[in-house]
Amino acid sequence: MRPCKPVVALTTLAVLLVAALAVAQWPQVDQEKLDKDHRDMMSQLGVKKLRPGPSGNEKDPNHANYDPALANPFPDWPDPLTLKSGKKVTTADEWWNERRPEIVEDFEREVLGRVPKNAPKVTWTVKAQVDEKVGDHPVLAKELVGKVDNSGAPAIEVNIDAILVTPADVKGPVPVMVMFGFGMMPGAKPPEGANKFFFAPPPGSDPPATEQLLAAGWGYAYLNPNSVQADNGAGLTEGVVGIANKGKFRKPDDWGSLRAWGWGASRLLDYFATDKAVDETRVGIEGVSRYGKAALVTMAFDTRFAVVLIGSSGEGGVKPHRRNFGEAVENLTASGEYHWMAGNFVKYGAEEATFGSKNAGDIPVDSHELLALCAPRATFISYGVPEQGDANWLDQQGSFMAAVAAGPVFRLLGAKDLGVTEDYRTVKKPDVNVGLLDGQLAWRQHDGGHTDAPNWKYFIPWANKMLGYTPRK
Ligand code: GCU
Repeated sequence: MRPCKPVVALTTLAVLLVAALAVAQWPQVDQEKLDKDHRDMMSQLGVKKLRPGPSGNEKDPNHANYDPALANPFPDWPDPLTLKSGKKVTTADEWWNERRPEIVEDFEREVLGRVPKNAPKVTWTVKAQVDEKVGDHPVLAKELVGKVDNSGAPAIEVNIDAILVTPADVKGPVPVMVMFGFGMMPGAKPPEGANKFFFAPPPGSDPPATEQLLAAGWGYAYLNPNSVQADNGAGLTEGVVGIANKGKFRKPDDWGSLRAWGWGASRLLDYFATDKAVDETRVGIEGVSRYGKAALVTMAFDTRFAVVLIGSSGEGGVKPHRRNFGEAVENLTASGEYHWMAGNFVKYGAEEATFGSKNAGDIPVDSHELLALCAPRATFISYGVPEQGDANWLDQQGSFMAAVAAGPVFRLLGAKDLGVTEDYRTVKKPDVNVGLLDGQLAWRQHDGGHTDAPNWKYFIPWANKMLGYTPRK
């Protein structure tokens, strides 16, 4: 399956993560069911043939473009501050009441899908609660289960797995970072066969994010995305998307996995509002790679999230669809990744269809506008370097251009952007390890691999400043 290749090309850490997760909970994908779902969406859309996505392997003849001279076939991106009517947006009210809803509508219909009005209710229970230690920090840890109401589709059962860990030596309520991924209850044994390096970072690295957060008076939570929605197209008739559709195929504007994962994070935030340990006005969301995309999507659509750390998100995340550098729209529309997106997004990879053909330049919105939906809240974009495995596939340069292009919206809303004055079309990203961390919109490319680990020590003080947080001991 073509889109899997780049996963293998990414860093050891990502591979270990996948290994650990596979041991813990990833089921085998039913390829036949997946292809049937993908073909059904193509036929609903009238798509006869998709352009194949480029390969992530630079040795393959059909590898992705890495020539900067060919990277900008669509240099003029949609303007986040011009209404569809052509009128310029000059006030915050015009943004909130007119332009933002237009952008949201385009993302929901064409790119990421809509959370249905009948999205099921979730009932949270605390399955276990322990006083433990994480590193040197005394904590209160809760294992949470969110039971998704499946009365509309009783054959599909969804129980959202999450854990919440808050410091016991800081007066609450405390801010909490929600991390997309599989996390262990403190004190619990790693699953059989899981690689020890995943659970204990190699010597010489920073303390794990969990310990850094606790040291700064924050709590953390893990949300297991796969417990909300499977990470493959075969699962679209199951999970929460399946419950809402009563087990039927998606319609073209129904939600994909990225929005379903974001919905799960929003439901966890609902629970936080009922837990005295958590300051629900200071909750953040974090993820790397596909979960970096999910973190951005969560932040963009749920304005209750105060802060986001978007790790190495690439195409479908901060990387502009309109850039021809690394991963392309055609990778997202293929059978290995279309499930992240709305079905309608598949149109943009069409070579032959009842409507002719479409490409990245036809998408009504782009990633800078997804970032703009986060404004004026605290938004940190993180990448690593290709030499260490954060591949060029992710298009760090294009992602920086998107951040610059989102800046005017942050400024309009009274926030600070990256502070860069050059035009997004010509701007060059800063050197590695040079953070632009003075504003609500922040950027830092660290010198590590496909992980955000080296950026947590910059993220936390920045987030404290942005959220005005000082822990009370
Ligand atoms: C592949 C895919 C990316 C994705 C990454 C991941 O490389 O092309 O879009 O972010 O896998 O591991 O999540």
